[in-house]
Amino acid sequence: MEMNLTDGSLPRMPTGQEIAQRFDGLALIARRAGDAARAAFESRPKGQFTLKGPQDYLTESDAAVEALIRAEIAARWPEDAILGEEGGGTPGPLTWVIDPIDGTANFARGVGHFCVSIAFAIDGRAELGAIVQPLTGEVWLARRGHGATLNGAPLAVRVEARPDQAIIEMGWSRRLPIPGYLAALNHALGQGASVRRVGSGALSLAHVADGRSDGYLEPLMHCWDCLAGLLLVEEAGGLVGDWPGHLADLAAPGPVLAAANPDIFQMLSAARAAGQDASHER
Ligand code: IPD
Ligand code: CA
Repeated sequence: MEMNLTDGSLPRMPTGQEIAQRFDGLALIARRAGDAARAAFESRPKGQFTLKGPQDYLTESDAAVEALIRAEIAARWPEDAILGEEGGGTPGPLTWVIDPIDGTANFARGVGHFCVSIAFAIDGRAELGAIVQPLTGEVWLARRGHGATLNGAPLAVRVEARPDQAIIEMGWSRRLPIPGYLAALNHALGQGASVRRVGSGALSLAHVADGRSDGYLEPLMHCWDCLAGLLLVEEAGGLVGDWPGHLADLAAPGPVLAAANPDIFQMLSAARAAGQDASHER
């Protein structure tokens, strides 16, 4: 998919009130998208799925839900840029970042662990984030500097987590060198962590924010997978790695690290380093 960067020359940044209006709009749009994703999941032909290639699922619902989100955003804020997993786009100073269905493989195979993830970024830095899990009706929302909520209740990470009592997740995709993933996994298991992989990175970040999980590591993710979730973790008091943070970073995948506290952050950083060594990165 094509992604070009603009020269970043849009003149005016939104006021606090304009950001608050986008936050209200985001909550509404995310719920509508969640309803559409749920309807698509419930009406899909059961037991049938199509692969475009190895581990690459074709679902028409991803494109349909993204089209709905794009139309809702464009109708309200026509000058904002939109970047989506399905339709691509050109990031700008004000950019909406959309993952219409994160956990596509789960969706295609009839597993209800998937979500809609939408972020709004200013100069590449997430300012607003929303994640909706259509089948449970859960809605996570975050606004930078204003905290994070789950269905309206304030969120906090589970700060007391120790590595040997922690449940973490390590995401995997075919973008990753296998030896690096195994080395990182080996490190985390060696520290006593229980390690999962359940197929929706965005939803897993939301679970770090609400304390159901203690950390998330994936060496290579796109902005639509992680931008909203990382903001949720930050606003719930957790620690995140330093990607993404700039407009240019939106265009390229990068490492994602989110943790409930410094001990878990340290463990995940060491696991990441072990993975880099094993795959001869750096
Ligand atoms: C994927 C999921 C998966 C993560 C991958 C993502 P998709 O997104 O978030 O958990 O490990 O990196 O690409 O394909 O389901 O939208
Ligand atoms: Ca995704």
